[in-house]
Amino acid sequence: MNQTKPRILTGDRPTGPLHLGHYVGTLKNRVALQDQYDCFFIIADLHTLTTAITKEKTSGIPDRVRGLVLDYLSVGIDPQKSVIYQQSRVPEVTYLSLIFSNLVTVPRAQRVPTLKDVMHDLHIEQPTVGLLTYPILQAADILMVKANLVPVGKDQESHVEVSREVARDFNRIFSEVFPVPKALIGDVGSLIGTDGQAKMSKSIGNCIYLSDDEDTVNKKVKGMYTDSTRLKPTDPGHIEGNPVFIYHDAFNDNKEEVTELKDRYVKGLVGDVEVKTKLALALNKFLTPIRAKRAEFEGKNDLIEQIIAEGSQKALLEAQKTLDEVLTAMGIR
Ligand code: TRP
Repeated sequence: MNQTKPRILTGDRPTGPLHLGHYVGTLKNRVALQDQYDCFFIIADLHTLTTAITKEKTSGIPDRVRGLVLDYLSVGIDPQKSVIYQQSRVPEVTYLSLIFSNLVTVPRAQRVPTLKDVMHDLHIEQPTVGLLTYPILQAADILMVKANLVPVGKDQESHVEVSREVARDFNRIFSEVFPVPKALIGDVGSLIGTDGQAKMSKSIGNCIYLSDDEDTVNKKVKGMYTDSTRLKPTDPGHIEGNPVFIYHDAFNDNKEEVTELKDRYVKGLVGDVEVKTKLALALNKFLTPIRAKRAEFEGKNDLIEQIIAEGSQKALLEAQKTLDEVLTAMGIR
């Protein structure tokens, strides 16, 4: 592995298909970073156990992992350049996590803001030890490959902070084993959903998925919310916060068309139907190469399995090396 390039680690829990919000928030960035950085993309299946410990959920992991790999490949994450791996195939990470759990106090773990958010959102009365130590396992993911940069959404910033503290504490107590990783917070705000109410989220059902076909996209766009203050096409419309125009800005490569549509919209000279028809065309154009790439791999489970196995083997070698260094630094070996 090329050690001269700085290293990136980021990834996702395999909880479902990726959507346009993931694309603008992180995937686009990942594809762009592949050449300058040594990239590791983790599919964090062990992290899903922290909120969904049922046989039904756990036995669905292999399918959802393959689905995530397909989503990655479809947008242009290239397994020749980057390592795509499954967390549970690198058991060393749990060993490292156990060591790190002794560097984080219980109140410190309880202060991580995502804990309260997840408990609130999922109506969890008491966190399990696994949920409490979620950021410690994530620190092990990050430090295991000695990542320098962690590109994530704003919601993950507090987890990267825990990783930084763990790295500093370990280095101070033992010896300089870990780089202190930096979070790279995506500058694109979370993409609004088709309902115009909240960010795109699977649990709300306001998503356009990277895997949606043309008809599905057309239907979803037809049902999108626009400017609720506008009763007829001749009323002057609002652009600001209007999901139809947010998507035009993000995905329509014909900037002249977008400017012209906005111009007529504020003057009350265009109806929603035309704005939406053009949006559906633009989104389908954007998704065409993604669909083509997906078709190259779809249904080829052996090939996908090979990508996961090879990536996980590379991650495993890194993990073994780091764990050796850790145990040596601690004087255990
Ligand atoms: N916690 C991240 C999320 O929910 C997923 C994740 C697990 C991750 N390990 C990571 C992200 C390491 C960045 C680095 O989105």
